Amino acid sequence: MLQTKFPSQSETVMTEMVLPNDTNNLGNLMGGNLLHWMDICSAMAAGKHANTIAVTAAVDNVSFQHPIARGAIVTLRSRVTRAFNTSMEVYIEVFSETMASQEKLLTNTAYYTFVALGENGLPCPVPAIEPETEEDRRRFEGALRRRELRLVLSGRLKPSDTPALQALFKVD
Ligand SMILES: CC(C)(COP(=O)(O)OP(=O)(O)OC[C@H]1O[C@@H](n2cnc3c(N)ncnc32)[C@H](O)[C@@H]1OP(=O)(O)O)[C@@H](O)C(=O)NCCC(=O)NCCS
Repeated sequence: MLQTKFPSQSETVMTEMVLPNDTNNLGNLMGGNLLHWMDICSAMAAGKHANTIAVTAAVDNVSFQHPIARGAIVTLRSRVTRAFNTSMEVYIEVFSETMASQEKLLTNTAYYTFVALGENGLPCPVPAIEPETEEDRRRFEGALRRRELRLVLSGRLKPSDTPALQALFKVD
């Protein structure tokens, strides 16, 4: 059996080609189609980490900085940054390249939150994440304040219960 070791158990890479049906009237990839691919790629990372079905609970700050033209090759790379109780934060990057250039341009990044579901369809605990690289550690630490912010914005947490977020603004 051919085995390839990925840097992290959850890391997932997905490649697509932008076909005419994926585009808007300008001939560029439709934002909604990109979000669809991002959701699938992130769901695979979360599902592999949790070893169960994971559903999308939230998506943060997706911005579309560069159009992706018809015919481009789109590579998506996702990785779980931190697991909480039943939820996980996934960081995803999107790169585009043309057949001719073969140079990858970073076009989008986003954080997705997934919740693992058990066989009864209810949220179930997920294993903790051990950050491996310096970048993993930075994203792992930042995940706590991003979680507090998204839970405040979704009305699930009081702004006063956000120690990690408030620490950002503390001046000694
Ligand atoms: C996500 C879902 C399972 C959460 O169910 P729930 O009854 O609110 O469950 P809980 O209150 O126990 O929360 C479970 C986890 O979800 C997290 N969560 C719920 N809503 C969230 C949100 N808006 N943003 C971030 N995390 C969220 C909670 O923080 C909790 O995480 P933790 O256990 O790590 O602390 C439920 O809302 C759901 O099924 N949503 C639809 C999912 C779906 O269909 N996605 C596809 C989109 S079309």
